[in-house]
Amino acid sequence: MRAHEAGALHGQAGDRGPAWLRRPDDVDALVPQLWARNVSKVDGVVTVAGESVTDLAEEFGTPLYVLDEDDFRTRARAFRDAFEGCEVYYAGKSFLCVATARWVEEEGLSLDVCTGGELAVALRAGFPPERLALHGNNKSVAELRRALEAGVGRIIVDSLEEIDRLVALTAETGREAAVMVRVTAGVEAHTHEYISTSHEDQKFGFSIADGAAFEAVSRIVAAQRPGEGGLRFLGLHFVPPEMDLGGGFGIAYTTQDDPRSPAELADSLLGIVHAECRALDVAVPHLSIEPGRAIVGPTTFTLYEVGTVKSVGLDGGASRRYVAVDGGMSDNVRPALYSADYSCTLASRRSEAPAVLSRVVGKHCESGDIVVKDEYLPGDVAAGDLLAVPGTGAYCRSLASTYNHVPRAAVVAVRDGEEAIRADHFEGARDRAIMGQKRESLAMSEEEKELTAYHEAGHALCAALLPTADPLHKVTIIPR
Ligand SMILES: Cc1ncc(COP(=O)(O)O)c(C=O)c1O
Repeated sequence: MRAHEAGALHGQAGDRGPAWLRRPDDVDALVPQLWARNVSKVDGVVTVAGESVTDLAEEFGTPLYVLDEDDFRTRARAFRDAFEGCEVYYAGKSFLCVATARWVEEEGLSLDVCTGGELAVALRAGFPPERLALHGNNKSVAELRRALEAGVGRIIVDSLEEIDRLVALTAETGREAAVMVRVTAGVEAHTHEYISTSHEDQKFGFSIADGAAFEAVSRIVAAQRPGEGGLRFLGLHFVPPEMDLGGGFGIAYTTQDDPRSPAELADSLLGIVHAECRALDVAVPHLSIEPGRAIVGPTTFTLYEVGTVKSVGLDGGASRRYVAVDGGMSDNVRPALYSADYSCTLASRRSEAPAVLSRVVGKHCESGDIVVKDEYLPGDVAAGDLLAVPGTGAYCRSLASTYNHVPRAAVVAVRDGEEAIRADHFEGARDRAIMGQKRESLAMSEEEKELTAYHEAGHALCAALLPTADPLHKVTIIPR
């Protein structure tokens, strides 16, 4: 939402939708670049790999994240093939569960995790630890210890305290820690401040410009004890002998976005690295990248059911159509957090009604609870209709909350007409069952009591011991 010193309404005056948003010729048609490869409409109903969303909604409820497994694997392979000879780490923070970790492994990618919880999910999936990289700007001693015990391939250090912790832990355990140093390159990405990470004034990395990176490397080199454990310096997260270029490759959220393919990205990035190395007369480093959203983002759409529709009068006799759905900022906080734009379509039927500029909002107690700020929808959208919002695979489920005690949305993945991950492997569906349909099961099972005990122990790494690894959520809303 735009801020305005005289109040939000003034900031909105005259806003009839962004300049890039065009009234579609056919409001029912899917815009191909926004959707996973196996998504289409059959008689107006969105289907994914042969499963209709009406069936999925009936079986698993809404809101529901719907993942196209084949699309995920295809995008992962495209990065692996385009960046041949480089290490491709899937950024688990974008979306991670046991099943997706296995897909990543099967497609030959490595995996970047950034907390003990994500590490636990990866280990639970049986991911080869030597292909794991541990990120994080504030890794605890327990997280570092677990990483060393598990034998993760590399730890990307982000603070002097962390280097000291690793020196102590390697001395205590006799294990070696292969480390890279995360540096800020002083490059400013033209995106929302909260999602840009390489400029100087933010929490990640060591500055090259102010000498912090030099100090970090010096400390690490001083702590190297070849053949006796200790630290082993691999390189910089962004500089030779190994260079990790990170993630942040864009995807299409709306019709205005035109992302580059993995092959185009590889051409330009590898071209720049080779040219710069030639110019500096240094060897080309071993390269890594860490795509998250560009792999999982477009694979997924979120399915919602419409609950209410209202028209609100604006200045000059105009009105805005507010379409409220049964989720919102609890399943996708990105619009509220950094004004992310999305698009959507009527998913459960065909409509002949003219397109109306609409705002899709959630059910939470915030006026910033916006799902899709501006979209043309058929003018007859009404309670009971299903809406699908594409491009929600990355950082939606990962950032989900239970705000207002709304249960977390379930996740279901579809593969060739079958559900590859059944939603009941995830907490959302179980919570809904606990809260709604199966009230008789409110008493805690032995397993739930055990999970609660783990949670109260306050240790995310306990996830490794659990049947599905998400202890924080497992116990969040079980009534006592
Ligand atoms: C170091 C690092 N690698 C990878 C990523 C993943 O970014 P994206 O999902 O945009 O590709 C991030 C995003 O926060 C990051 O900070």
